[in-house]
Amino acid sequence: MCGIIGYVGREDSPRPLAVAIEALTRLQYRGYDSAGVVVANAAGLAFAKKAGKLEVLEAELEAHPLPLATAAIGHTRWATHGGPTDVNAHPHLSEDGSVAVVHNGIIENHEVLRLELAEAGVQFRSQTDTEVAAHLLARALVEEGNLPDAMRAVARRLEGAFTLLAVARENPRLVVGARRTSPLVVGLGDGENFLGSDVAAFIASTNRALELGQDQVVTITPETVVVTDFFGQPVTPRQYTVDWDASAAVKGGYPTFMDKEIHDQPDAVRDTLLGRLTPAGLLTLDELHVSEALLRSVDKIVVIACGTASYAGTVAKYAIEHWCRIPTEVALAHEFRYSDPVVNEKTLVVAVSQSGETMDTIMAIRHAREQGAKVVAVVNTMGSTIARESDAALYTHAGPEVAVASTKAFLAQITATYLLGLYLAQLRGTMFPDEVRAVLDELTAMPAKVQQVIDGEDSIRELATSMKDVESVLYLGRHVGFPVAMEGALKLKELAYIHAEGFAAGELKHGPIALIDEGQAVFVIVPSPRSRSVLHDKILSNIQEVRARGARTLVVAEEGDTAVAEYAERVFWVPPTPTLLAPLVAVVPLQIFACALATAKGLDVDQPRNLAKSVTVE
Ligand code: AGP
Repeated sequence: MCGIIGYVGREDSPRPLAVAIEALTRLQYRGYDSAGVVVANAAGLAFAKKAGKLEVLEAELEAHPLPLATAAIGHTRWATHGGPTDVNAHPHLSEDGSVAVVHNGIIENHEVLRLELAEAGVQFRSQTDTEVAAHLLARALVEEGNLPDAMRAVARRLEGAFTLLAVARENPRLVVGARRTSPLVVGLGDGENFLGSDVAAFIASTNRALELGQDQVVTITPETVVVTDFFGQPVTPRQYTVDWDASAAVKGGYPTFMDKEIHDQPDAVRDTLLGRLTPAGLLTLDELHVSEALLRSVDKIVVIACGTASYAGTVAKYAIEHWCRIPTEVALAHEFRYSDPVVNEKTLVVAVSQSGETMDTIMAIRHAREQGAKVVAVVNTMGSTIARESDAALYTHAGPEVAVASTKAFLAQITATYLLGLYLAQLRGTMFPDEVRAVLDELTAMPAKVQQVIDGEDSIRELATSMKDVESVLYLGRHVGFPVAMEGALKLKELAYIHAEGFAAGELKHGPIALIDEGQAVFVIVPSPRSRSVLHDKILSNIQEVRARGARTLVVAEEGDTAVAEYAERVFWVPPTPTLLAPLVAVVPLQIFACALATAKGLDVDQPRNLAKSVTVE
């Protein structure tokens, strides 16, 4: 989704534009199809905006430089209303050129406002919803006399989700932002201040940030930051320090962010466990600000998420039900509130999200809270909307995940939801302390096991490269291997644009086996032979069923499981792990396979076509 940067400094200089371009470069991972910047100085506003990637805008700036300035706002646009053209790129200016605005989200009443403005004689240039905000701001500026009051007046009229930044000719040392639901954070500098759609926008300049809440307007000058609600009532925002630096958001010597983040996974698991085990090895979740009495009274858990996060939630379902004996459902966020869900004050909702800004998930948890449910967010982004709108946030510590396709966040989400399940089991007494401790000890050993799988990546990459022309791959799994199969298929779809489908292996004979033809590639995730051997035996039968029909059986199995070797074209061995923890290692070969195959096809594994890192529209 759109990336946004705002900057204001003391003196006219090249810095505002430089900060804006650097920020938009870091925000590229959010997915976009046009980009633009506007700078402000005493002479007024000057802008450049182009369809295409940032390089196109930079070429434009080379050919037609913008003047030195004290302020700048910049934007990378992921087209919603109106195609990716120069005219539709942001910023959008008012007719008289007095105000420029950039926007992330959707102004849902833009058509009504557009009609009102057209009837007042406004000539629209673009097909965007955003342009109405530029014209409204210019009119409000005349009535209110200053940009902050003008922004508050306009924000009160808008419906939908939006983050707006504006700069006006009247005061080039002031930038104003307004947010409803869409993300916006403040970066605090010395003699300069920043606004960004996430901290990556300004992390190169400062790690001091302010968290903004719902329906708030923030005004930054070089020396001040003022936050109010939409009616001008002062608000005191929470300040926090970003716990990673700019270097963490660069590739660290890997060819792509995707490669880096796959290799970051042992640390993502380790860091998510960090600080949550007492020296005595007991579990402590201080940040879980939900009363113990309520956690004891919970009679149902609903995990709400999308995409990869929903597969992490499905893994958690198996673990939580086994450890806590609480009925646990997994609901796709975009389906949840339309399914008339049975949710009440005894329901615990677990919202899983890497970005913490997925609009489908935000709207779903709002619905759940309206029904009386308590919400625990499992998020990777501090100060994100989902974290703020939940009753408690259990942060994953995967570090910034820049590649659009999620990898290390997936392992961190599984780890964090395991901790939540163990905490509930510990609290409700459905596991003895020594049982909880045993699982925690196994979890503590997982980073090394994940590393061991990564160390064997070359053979996986070789197979992937040899299969770069494959047109379809199926993924089969049982129990916690089923969500792993779904995630493996999603990775191949996202990265290599190849049709891939994950199935519960038991479903095969109920239809999908008709897909099996000579040479059909099938990944099979095999549970440990120690895990209730019926699970293992049944998946062995599935391998034989597909193999007998000519399938290429590519198997992920536990070291020493010699029974599978006979029916597998290739086996990717993973270290022995307890059944419920196996997803942490079983998914890694599938991630590496998808990444390597996409790379062999010459595709951009960090920013796959059509995808955005954070889907901030419904
Ligand atoms: C994962 O590879 C995808 N990029 C996508 O499915 C993602 O997991 C989903 O959009 C949810 O995003 P979130 O975790 O930021 O809420």
